[in-house]
Amino acid sequence: GKVAVLFGGSSAERPVSLMSGAGVLAALQSLGVDAHPFDPAERPLQALKDEGFNRAFIALHGRGGEDGSLQGALECLGIPYTGSGVMASAIAMDKVSTKRIWIAEGLPTPRALVLARHELTRERVRTIPDELGLPVIVKPPHEGSSFGVSKAQGYSDMQGAVELALGFDDELLFEECIEGPELTCAVLGDGQDAQALPVVEIRAVGGNYDYENKYVSDSTQYLFGSLPAALEAEVQALVLKAYRLLGCRGWGRADLMLRQKDQKPFLLEMNTSPGMTSHSLVPKAAKQIGLDYPQLCLWLLAQARL
Ligand code: DAL
Ligand code: MG
Repeated sequence: GKVAVLFGGSSAERPVSLMSGAGVLAALQSLGVDAHPFDPAERPLQALKDEGFNRAFIALHGRGGEDGSLQGALECLGIPYTGSGVMASAIAMDKVSTKRIWIAEGLPTPRALVLARHELTRERVRTIPDELGLPVIVKPPHEGSSFGVSKAQGYSDMQGAVELALGFDDELLFEECIEGPELTCAVLGDGQDAQALPVVEIRAVGGNYDYENKYVSDSTQYLFGSLPAALEAEVQALVLKAYRLLGCRGWGRADLMLRQKDQKPFLLEMNTSPGMTSHSLVPKAAKQIGLDYPQLCLWLLAQARL
């Protein structure tokens, strides 16, 4: 049948999605799939129905593509789609809801505060490091690809970090900074059959895996097999639990911090429509288990459903 690769979109992560989608489209076409590009920012989704598409590969990131709203529209149109359903997508797009679920089940995630725009007076902002220490990580909870995220090193950085993040969201997430490398671990499949891929340790220049180090720099190092086997297995088991608790399906990628001093992993978030750019991590992890980029795309497409 006819497959739409949905990419572009209107979130802040549009440039990332354009890279992910171009890769997926070319890969599917190279395998003989009748795949076509479709940008929901430029065309109404109803056109998918009118033009006889019978499956959708979601290569959108962020709001309007990864947050359940598009998934809901595809449900209404009756077009099977890749990845998580409406609820898991919506929860995972919100780092606050995600953390509440993980905390309720005893999963480790950095200590945090959530404050709404009206609560963020200068006086209140100044007291945040008293509660979470320094540095503090400041995040808009509904964004991806590090948009609006800062690591405030001192009291004097706090106000600027807050103002930046408020450009993206009306409530902010403040997290204790976990000192150590960032880890990421992808999951393929559903429920009890879900499988965690090998863990990637990220060594970014300057220690911050920010937008530049994610998509532009070629200096970021991605290490496989760098963790002791028992720790690797612990991280994979933790990520599978985190994935199942959110009700994810198809695929996902959890991002974590590994606390250097005691080698304890902390969950940061779950991405339900992970990046598929040339710099992205799910393709690198899939390669480790013998699944090349085109085969990964084909496998994901085969999981598409309503
Ligand atoms: N939000 C980006 C696309 C990722 O997590 O890969
Ligand atoms: Mg993300």
